[in-house]
Amino acid sequence: MADISKESKVKYNFVGKSGLKVSNICLGTMTFGENQVKAPGQADESLSHQIIDRFVAYGGNFLDTADIYGLGNSEKIIGTWLDKQSRENFVVATKCRGNMGPESNKNAVGLSRRHITSSIENSLKRLRTDYVDIYQTHAFDNATPLEETLRTLDDLVRCGKIRYPGVSNVTGWQLEKIVQTQTRLGLNPIISLQQQYNLACRESELEPFQVCKNEGIGVLPWSPLKGGLLTGKVKRDTKPTEGRLGWVAQDERRHMQSAPSYSRVPSKVFDIIDTAEAIGKKHGRSVAQVALRWLLQKDVTTSVIIGATSLAQLDQNMAVNEWSLCAEEMDQLDELSAPDAPYPYEMISRLNNDRVNSRVYDYFVKSVL
Ligand SMILES: NC(=O)c1ccc[n+]([C@@H]2O[C@H](COP(=O)([O-])OP(=O)(O)OC[C@H]3O[C@@H](n4cnc5c(N)ncnc54)[C@H](OP(=O)(O)O)[C@@H]3O)[C@@H](O)[C@H]2O)c1
Repeated sequence: MADISKESKVKYNFVGKSGLKVSNICLGTMTFGENQVKAPGQADESLSHQIIDRFVAYGGNFLDTADIYGLGNSEKIIGTWLDKQSRENFVVATKCRGNMGPESNKNAVGLSRRHITSSIENSLKRLRTDYVDIYQTHAFDNATPLEETLRTLDDLVRCGKIRYPGVSNVTGWQLEKIVQTQTRLGLNPIISLQQQYNLACRESELEPFQVCKNEGIGVLPWSPLKGGLLTGKVKRDTKPTEGRLGWVAQDERRHMQSAPSYSRVPSKVFDIIDTAEAIGKKHGRSVAQVALRWLLQKDVTTSVIIGATSLAQLDQNMAVNEWSLCAEEMDQLDELSAPDAPYPYEMISRLNNDRVNSRVYDYFVKSVL
């Protein structure tokens, strides 16, 4: 294994306006352990531990998992690793909401007091720890009153089982309602939003990220490479055969947000990949490194949650702190990957083009250099 230079070490950011500090790269562990759908690229315990060790060698202190990943397998693998570490050095985030079964338990899913309370107990056992640093709701639950969910998360903070609540996969109005309800009830606030964000998926800039900027919530982008698509290894005219995307291409019913099907990739995404490749060439960098770097230079980003199925992929992805994109390159990528702004976003943004007041806090995602 090559030595890790001082320049490639991670940087550290506070999560939103909380006092919690994390590395600007978070290690995603969805590919640790066998999973339910038998997707390829799942690392066994030994490789998973090597990947975490290497991530830590770069200075990484932040791990993301979920109860649903491999129905507990990812959490168990982190648990056996964490058991051998000084727990206080690491920030561990997990999630609940997914259906953990069995079929006979009708309360094994969602964000009810009942399910959250049993979920945290099970996650703590698998993770072999007394507390979770960021406990995230995996997606909005239409069936449970928000007050019930948020009071339960607050109770978990108060009894020390979790340090901070966070959310994942929400719309703008849902996020604002979460914030307002916590404020009205005087509850411990969420500190982070874990949301899909990459050069092929920027729709959250229209609403949820504006709430994040306004409320001081940190954004943790997931699937930063759109499941491997933004590495340039899938070519415009060739159906992929390898890795997660090759597995989906074999049977497109397997399509997920984190595993897009080849036939549905818009040609605009291949244009973005071509541009990222041309920009990367100038810096001696890969498409993946350009895609990750673009995310790190967005002012909402706290920590990018990367995924890697091998140590070589990890090394390539961790090298993003060594260099940066210039303003023109950020503009070029921004322009090409901009999401369509439907009504009323297009109209409101056009009418406010000349309404910039430096004393009023701006809500829009900007690039930082
Ligand atoms: N909150 C949520 O709903 C949610 C959803 C999804 C993910 N997440 C989190 O986000 C993390 C990352 O998600 P993700 O795995 O979808 O991230 P991603 O970065 O979009 O995709 C990672 C995959 O791309 C390929 N890859 C990675 N680096 C590469 C490189 N340098 N060169 C070539 N191929 C490369 C690998 O797949 P192959 O080797 O198979 O091609 C790898 O498994 C997850 O582990 C999880 O913690 C959260």
